[in-house]
Amino acid sequence: MSPGKPTILVTGGAGYIGSHTVLALKQAGFDVIILDNLVYGHRDLVEKVLQVELVVGDTGDRPLLDNLFNKRNIAAVMHFSAYAYVGESVTDPAKYYRNNVVGTLTLLEAMLAASVKKFVFSSTCATYGVPEVVPIPEDYPQNPINPYGASKLMVERILSDFHVAYDFKSVRFRYFNAAGADPNGLLGEDHNPETHLIPLVLQTALGKRESISVFGTDYPTPDGTCIRDYIHVTDLASAHVLGLEYLLKGGDSEVFNLGNGNGFSVKEVIETAREVTQTDIKVVECDRRPGDPPALIGSSDKARKILGWHPQYSSVEEIITHAWQWHQKRHQ
Ligand SMILES: NC(=O)c1ccc[n+]([C@@H]2O[C@H](COP(=O)([O-])OP(=O)(O)OC[C@H]3O[C@@H](n4cnc5c(N)ncnc54)[C@H](O)[C@@H]3O)[C@@H](O)[C@H]2O)c1
Repeated sequence: MSPGKPTILVTGGAGYIGSHTVLALKQAGFDVIILDNLVYGHRDLVEKVLQVELVVGDTGDRPLLDNLFNKRNIAAVMHFSAYAYVGESVTDPAKYYRNNVVGTLTLLEAMLAASVKKFVFSSTCATYGVPEVVPIPEDYPQNPINPYGASKLMVERILSDFHVAYDFKSVRFRYFNAAGADPNGLLGEDHNPETHLIPLVLQTALGKRESISVFGTDYPTPDGTCIRDYIHVTDLASAHVLGLEYLLKGGDSEVFNLGNGNGFSVKEVIETAREVTQTDIKVVECDRRPGDPPALIGSSDKARKILGWHPQYSSVEEIITHAWQWHQKRHQ
């Protein structure tokens, strides 16, 4: 262990946001153990880039967790592991409640048994459902409209109750749309299947897809397409390190939105990607998808104020440029 810095268990650390956060934790001097079942994670990135200990296992495996907490002096847990495909959560909710809720509860119970009581949790703007105001503040009512969002809200509720009953301290981060890649090209987004707009647009630019579908061009927005808040994954990672340090210094349980505060429409993203990639990206306009709110933008003032978080990469050009560097390297 590095002198003075505790060991942090990062579940889902072989995935997209988790891996970028492990890099930031290492840079901040923390010792990291990743727990990932590699259902979606990437062993090669852990071994070649992150070079931290990888425990291949499941957050629902209580004996494995007990063994890990008994053997290692873990000070806190960062919990990224979950299933996060909204559409699949509608057709197979059991899979989502089992992994995202039951798996998390198993992890939390193992933590309690080992008296590890500091927890950083990946929640989501999907817990807000279809909000009527933007930017959305943290105290806006949470009304998720799909099982994925509901599973995250259930864990938020469990964490509130654990705080009261067991003095269990958590930071809950509600992310907006994570995007971009490590600015040095070490890591990036590699979901399979991919459902996020920016990587899909870049896959189209690389010729891996014929066209990009735009769902709805008649929304009440300036160009008729949906507006979303894209937050650079490296800025998400730095917020996690600050959230962890806040808890380690004795901070109380808190919830923070993590967004850019600026919205970009689907058409703006595609136009910027055309400029960045110097490629003509073919668009197919389709009907609206049910449940897509016209605009989702988060207010992250609270994270700036309480955690002293300063996002570095707020322009969509930078986000897409970093993602493009990564996609060319990883997928060409
Ligand atoms: N990507 C986004 O825009 C976004 C937005 C809001 C919230 N989130 C949340 O952030 C977290 C990370 O998202 P991501 O995009 O990095 O996803 P990801 O799929 O890239 O990473 C999740 C990782 O968790 C692992 N995993 C899943 N279930 C597991 C289990 N039971 N035990 C051990 N490992 C398991 C997967 O193998 C994967 O490596 C998720 O909880 C997601 O719900 C993501």
